[in-house]
Amino acid sequence: MRLILLGPPGAGKGTQAKMLKEKFRIPQISTGDILREAVKKNTGLGARAKTFMDAGQLVPDDLVISLIKERIWQRDCEVGFILDGFPRNIVQAEKLKETLVEMNLVINNVINLEVDAEEILERLTGRSTCSDCGNMFHKVSHPPKTNGFCDSCGGKLEQRPDDNEVTIQERLKVYEQSTVPLKEFYTKEENLKTVKAKGPVEEIFSHVCQMIE
Ligand code: AP5
Repeated sequence: MRLILLGPPGAGKGTQAKMLKEKFRIPQISTGDILREAVKKNTGLGARAKTFMDAGQLVPDDLVISLIKERIWQRDCEVGFILDGFPRNIVQAEKLKETLVEMNLVINNVINLEVDAEEILERLTGRSTCSDCGNMFHKVSHPPKTNGFCDSCGGKLEQRPDDNEVTIQERLKVYEQSTVPLKEFYTKEENLKTVKAKGPVEEIFSHVCQMIE
C-alpha cells in the first residue's frame, strides 16, 4: 500500500503515520523528520533547510523532491510506504506522480486530516518531543511523568523551534496557499478521503483505517 497523509501542521499526520506503520508494516517517510535530522547533524541539506524551517516556509522543492526520489527507491519501500508531509504543493505532487509512473507504481490512498486552527495552536504550542526516540508529549493532554524527560527512554524533551505562535501562524498561511490546492489535485485523481481529525487518537486511527481500501 502506498499512502499520502495530507493536513495542516498539527493535524496528527505524524501520530497517525506511526500507528499505520505498525499496523501495515510499511515505512513512514516524513520529510519533516528527515530534514530535522539533517539540521541536527548539520549536513549540507540541513544547513540549506534550517532557515526555511525556522521561518515556517517550505524548503525549496528541488531539495525535498530529490530526497523523496532517493528514499522511495530504497528496498524497504518495495512493500509500500506512508508519505507524511510530502507532497506539500502541486509541483511536488506532479514530480511524485512522474517518479511513480517511472517505477510503474500508483498511490492507493490520500487521507486528508482536517482540524481547525484553534485546536492546531493548542496542540503545537504545548507539544514537546523526545530528542532521542521522537516520542511526543503535550503539556496538558499528555504530560510526561517526569517534567522535561521522556517516559519511554528518559531522553530530554525539546520544543521544536517552529512550534511558537508566530511561526505556527506562518505555517498555517503556507499550508493554505501551497498545500490546500492538493485537495483538488487528488480529488481529480480520485483517491482523496477526508477524516475529521479532532477527538481521541485511536478513534481517528480507526476512521483512517476504514477509509483505506
Ligand atoms: P513537518 O514536520 O511536516 O511539520 P507540519 O506539517 O507542520 O506538521 P507537524 O509535524 O507539526 O504536525 P503533524 O500533522 O505531524 O501532527 P503530529 O502528529 O505531530 O514540517 C516541518 C517543516 O519542514 C515545514 O514547515 C517545512 O519547512 C519543512 N518541510 C517538511 N516537508 C516539506 C516538504 N514536503 N516540502 C517543503 N518543506 C517541507 O501532532 C501534533 C501534536 O498534536 C502532538 O503533540 C500530538 O501528540 C498531538 N495530537 C495528535 N493527534 C491528536 C489528537 N487527536 N488530539 C489531541 N492531540 C493530538
